[in-house]
Amino acid sequence: MFAVYAEAPNFNDPLSAVVVGERPAPSPRVGWVRVKLEAASLNWHDLWTLRGLGGMNGRPEAFPMILGSDGAGTLDDGTPVALYPLMGDPDWRGDETLDPRRTVLAEEVQGTFADFVAVPTRNAVPLPAGIARDTAAILGATWLTAYRMLFTKARVRPGQTVLVQGASGGVATALIQLGHAAGLRVWATGRGATKRELALRLGAQRCFESGESLPAPVDAVFDLVGTATFAHSIKHVKAGGVVVVAGGASGLEATLDLARVFIEQITIVGSFDGTLHEFLELLDFVAQAGIKPHVGHVLLMTDAVEGLRRMLAGETMGKIVLTRRQADS
Ligand SMILES: NC(=O)c1ccc[n+]([C@@H]2O[C@H](COP(=O)([O-])OP(=O)(O)OC[C@H]3O[C@@H](n4cnc5c(N)ncnc54)[C@H](OP(=O)(O)O)[C@@H]3O)[C@@H](O)[C@H]2O)c1
Repeated sequence: MFAVYAEAPNFNDPLSAVVVGERPAPSPRVGWVRVKLEAASLNWHDLWTLRGLGGMNGRPEAFPMILGSDGAGTLDDGTPVALYPLMGDPDWRGDETLDPRRTVLAEEVQGTFADFVAVPTRNAVPLPAGIARDTAAILGATWLTAYRMLFTKARVRPGQTVLVQGASGGVATALIQLGHAAGLRVWATGRGATKRELALRLGAQRCFESGESLPAPVDAVFDLVGTATFAHSIKHVKAGGVVVVAGGASGLEATLDLARVFIEQITIVGSFDGTLHEFLELLDFVAQAGIKPHVGHVLLMTDAVEGLRRMLAGETMGKIVLTRRQADS
């Protein structure tokens, strides 16, 4: 079948590790299903795979690996599904994100940039009416991360003011749209006017240049940028507030103003993807609230390298979706 995969990792030049070609089609085991993919989306996880980092670190035997941890398509009986990306110990009970054997798609199980993927039946979640297939392909890894950050980790309430660092990111745009729909006053930082205009279009109330001082402290900050913004996040959260960290697109090193953390009693909390229960809640919320998840670019799956290049260069305006159909934007 058609697939976009990494034959072997390349730490220094990840894009050169991408192969657009053919891989064996998956044969679902007992308790698994086959999904014919219609759309998938790019994540930094794909770049980590190409570099041999994260779940692929020290596992050369895991290659070749088909990329892609987000996707949507149809079961063999035609049921439209969105993919929940986390898998783990079948006997694990409770929060899947805490399972020590947890993996995401494209670590131990082949990923979604292909004609077909095989997943445990519970990972292929029937799509509620009102959610389009292209947008369903960004919900599993990206929107679920944003949902958990907002409602499980920060426990925000309508009317609160929150700051989203990085206006145009995939997770950032999800945070803005979900936060706006939940009645929050959403502020965002972004590099450049075009990115900040996008955040305003998606529901942000105010936008600031990255690193700019805010006019007032906020109840919660959502930071997936890391090195470039973390000190700013700590500086601008109010006393007793929370900073939720879930990524580091600009780097994973940061200095911490410890005095501010304990004197102002700031909570710093990490977040990773989400549970299946949260995914079901997310799908319901998106459908019921009529949210149209923003997609920045739609490319053909054959053009995956161009999408990865844009991510690496920061030339994104929201999620990049890869489709098996002719691209429409
Ligand atoms: N914990 C999880 O489960 C989880 C899930 C998904 C992603 N992540 C992580 O979250 C991070 C973002 O992922 P994404 O999919 O949203 O990536 P993305 O779509 O490529 O967006 C990158 C984001 O980083 C910002 N950024 C990058 N360099 C910056 C700099 N030097 N200064 C200021 N802002 C900068 C961008 O802000 P501008 O808009 O200003 O360009 C943008 O918001 C990655 O580290 C990824 O690995 C974690």
